[in-house]
Amino acid sequence: MHKDSAVGIHDLSFATGHYVLDHREIANHYSVDINKFHLGIGQEAMSVPAADEDIVTMAATAARPIIDRYGTADIRTVLLATETGVDQAKSAGLYVHSLLGLPSAARVLELKQACYAATAALQFAAALVSRDPSERVLVIATDIARYDAGSPGESTQGAAAAAMLVTAEPAILRLDRPSGLFAADIMDFWRPNYRSTAVVDGKTSIAAYLQAIEGAWKDYTERGGRPIDEFAAFCYHQPFTKMAHKAHRHLAEFSGAAAEPDDIHDAIHTSTLYNRVIGNSYTASLYLGLASLLDHRDDLAGKPIAMFSYGSGSVAEFFGGTVMPGYREHLRTAGHRAAIADRTPIDYAGYRSLHELSLPVDGGDHALVEEGRGPYRLAGLSGHKRIYQARSRR
Ligand code: HMG
Repeated sequence: MHKDSAVGIHDLSFATGHYVLDHREIANHYSVDINKFHLGIGQEAMSVPAADEDIVTMAATAARPIIDRYGTADIRTVLLATETGVDQAKSAGLYVHSLLGLPSAARVLELKQACYAATAALQFAAALVSRDPSERVLVIATDIARYDAGSPGESTQGAAAAAMLVTAEPAILRLDRPSGLFAADIMDFWRPNYRSTAVVDGKTSIAAYLQAIEGAWKDYTERGGRPIDEFAAFCYHQPFTKMAHKAHRHLAEFSGAAAEPDDIHDAIHTSTLYNRVIGNSYTASLYLGLASLLDHRDDLAGKPIAMFSYGSGSVAEFFGGTVMPGYREHLRTAGHRAAIADRTPIDYAGYRSLHELSLPVDGGDHALVEEGRGPYRLAGLSGHKRIYQARSRR
């Protein structure tokens, strides 16, 4: 196993939407037993963005505390991963680059492969830093998960952005090699350009996820990865938190590890606490899981943890990281808890009116009503341009 590269996550910060929809609202609306959500899919609530929030405002909000702490110097690359793109040509990262006042000597781009793209961005960032350890890379995963109202996917929506500063000698998590990779051309979940909601075959998607974990784990072991019982904890992509249970049980059985309910709980529970109340955040989901794990466990210094990234369509990666000594001093636990606790509750009707809202496409001047309270907002549209602003009452 290669252990030479001290490159990884130096800082990790997330932001989420302005509103929160409790799953009891969905259960009441459809007259469904709430246990289908609480136990069946492991979700209690989901974030809903305000009308003047989008992937750009969430991304800038997530990254702002990192810039406030470490400044902008030496950030020469911004990689923004999303499947909720706002433009077919221009990278959403450029709006974020501007809102954060990042240096003009920078490469900025957007990456897409469903929920997997943030992991690609993280690995590309690590490669850049390995080549020149004086450089720092800002990686941002930002997404709004949207399915048709009334479809099975509706209860697995959500929204969040996770920002990571990737550096040499990281304070939080060193990325270890090897990675186990898996790719397969499968139509389990996709979103054609003309749709604002995803198309998904739920059962196929769950089977594809489990097939991908087998493939990625097999590649990981063939390339000399750690035995499964060396990992102190596991973080999975979480479209809903029950998926992490299914995934870990599957991996444990496949790899010969302990797979009793208590073993699965111990391996993953703390990584599911944020996702359970935020919902699916696509590219950001795995990194919210990492934030949840680190914020809720104080015994991980020096220990290896496992990460499994899955993006429908599909690409998957299994990789390990080693938690750095003193990591807890660098976490943003209070900010993360506030991002969750400060959301404004919304009822089912309020969520539906936001869900059905679409921005004008006529190229005219349209100001958006101020609604959220994050540091950045989508103020309007003009001549087919999106106008972003720092909120005056910051
Ligand atoms: P559904 O038809 O609403 O629910 O679809 P269900 O009938 O399958 O029930 C779900 C679970 O709740 C079942 O448990 C039921 O038994 C249980 P399971 O068999 O799965 O263990 N249940 C109850 N438990 C206790 N008390 C009750 C009760 N009632 C039922 N009263 C589905 C669920 C997840 C398929 C749907 O929400 C969906 O299609 N979601 C979107 C797709 C998705 O999230 N797929 C996950 C894998 S793909 C992925 O992760 C990639 C993705 O993030 C996209 C990307 O990569 O960009 C989605």
